[in-house]
Amino acid sequence: MDRIRIRGGKPLSGEIIIGGAKNAALPLMVAAMLTDQRLVLSNVPRLADIQTMSLLLAQHGIAVDPVGNDGRTLSIGGTITSTEAPYDIVRKMRASALVLGPLLARTGEARVSMPGGCAIGARPIDLHLKGLEQMGAAFRLDGGYIDGAVNGRLHGATIVFPIVSVGATENLLMAAALADGRTVLANAAREPEIGDLARCLNAMGAQIAGIDSDRLTIDGVERLHGAEHSIIPDRIETGTYACAAAITGGEVMLHNGRVEHLGATVRTLREAGVDVVDLPGGLHIRRLNGLHGADVMTEPYPGFPTDMQAQFMALMALSDGAAMVTETIFENRFMHVPELNRMGARINVHGASAIVRGVPTLSGAPVMATDLRASVSLILAGLAARGETMVNRVYHLDRGYEAVEQKLAACGADIERLPG
Ligand code: EPZ
Repeated sequence: MDRIRIRGGKPLSGEIIIGGAKNAALPLMVAAMLTDQRLVLSNVPRLADIQTMSLLLAQHGIAVDPVGNDGRTLSIGGTITSTEAPYDIVRKMRASALVLGPLLARTGEARVSMPGGCAIGARPIDLHLKGLEQMGAAFRLDGGYIDGAVNGRLHGATIVFPIVSVGATENLLMAAALADGRTVLANAAREPEIGDLARCLNAMGAQIAGIDSDRLTIDGVERLHGAEHSIIPDRIETGTYACAAAITGGEVMLHNGRVEHLGATVRTLREAGVDVVDLPGGLHIRRLNGLHGADVMTEPYPGFPTDMQAQFMALMALSDGAAMVTETIFENRFMHVPELNRMGARINVHGASAIVRGVPTLSGAPVMATDLRASVSLILAGLAARGETMVNRVYHLDRGYEAVEQKLAACGADIERLPG
């Protein structure tokens, strides 16, 4: 398994190009199942999860063909030949569950492996299933698989989510696009990735209103047609590299970064003493003086994103004060804490909250990556730490960050990947 070695202490300086959003690209690739025509996606990030989704779509008979030679434009389409999403793919990537809605909408049946838990939590899909049941689907569990079926066509329904769920909103949005009649999704997730999916679906002929709000109204149509769509930049990649600049005391220009997608992250970074300037074409990030403690509580968009929690905690480890970090979305998303503490951080976890007491310096150490965002928080700490940090199991990192060591090295970091 590859490892990444960092010799810390160098302030970042330079430019980073922010790629397409992983969490927009994945549902958008699944949206291609809703039509027999081709969906052409551009600004696709080159990530392990995109490869995995391509494998899953191929399993269903949907081809994912590169256009051009940079691997960032994909032409996706075909006829669904299998309605089974197998365990060996689903267990690697939970976003596979997003095929449920499209399979039921297009074929009336679906056999999808239960995703199982993951490092950060149980991550059930009960809200996906309950919503689809309200639209006429019936499910039974068989040998770890969910067998779904609908007699005839899914029908519209008014679905009120008891908690905000990105995936359930996306699954039901895609199912509703082809359902018979009107569907209302109330208390829907408002993440920019959902707006991106909705805009693409409308370009394919869907009739979705209320985009970017927490109430989506979808009037189902008989069929959707192909379209071309450019994926929005990755707001979590943007926030991650902003933390990298801040933790090293450097300054970077994040091309394509969009301040309006960062929600509470910008306010919190500024509170911590980070200068965020919105320029044409991107964001300029610079640490002003010291880092100040700033409390965060993760919330659905536009609140502080759970996907930024680990990165911000690494930043707060070097603050001149203290920060309370509360994780309200997932039940086990503090696995980076023991690893950061091995580097000299002073973090204590009490249930869903962690108190981070800033220290003057961190020390490099061998550390273990456990999940995508925890992995990158260890990279950030290594960039600022004295001495050498070796991050093991970086396959977690490759799921969500394209060429992370190249992008950081181009800004002066002493970082390299050691093939495992
Ligand atoms: C999406 O996961 C993202 N993944 C996650 O990013 C992100 O952390 C999460 O949204 C929250 O923003 C993709 O978009 C591929 P949820 P998702 O449904 O859809 C509970 C990353 O690092 N829940 O919004 O799975 C769930 O357990 C990944 O890029 C139910 O109880 O998240 C969680 O506590 C990690 N029942 C909360 O809701 C359900 O049916 C929010 O989950 C569905 C969810």
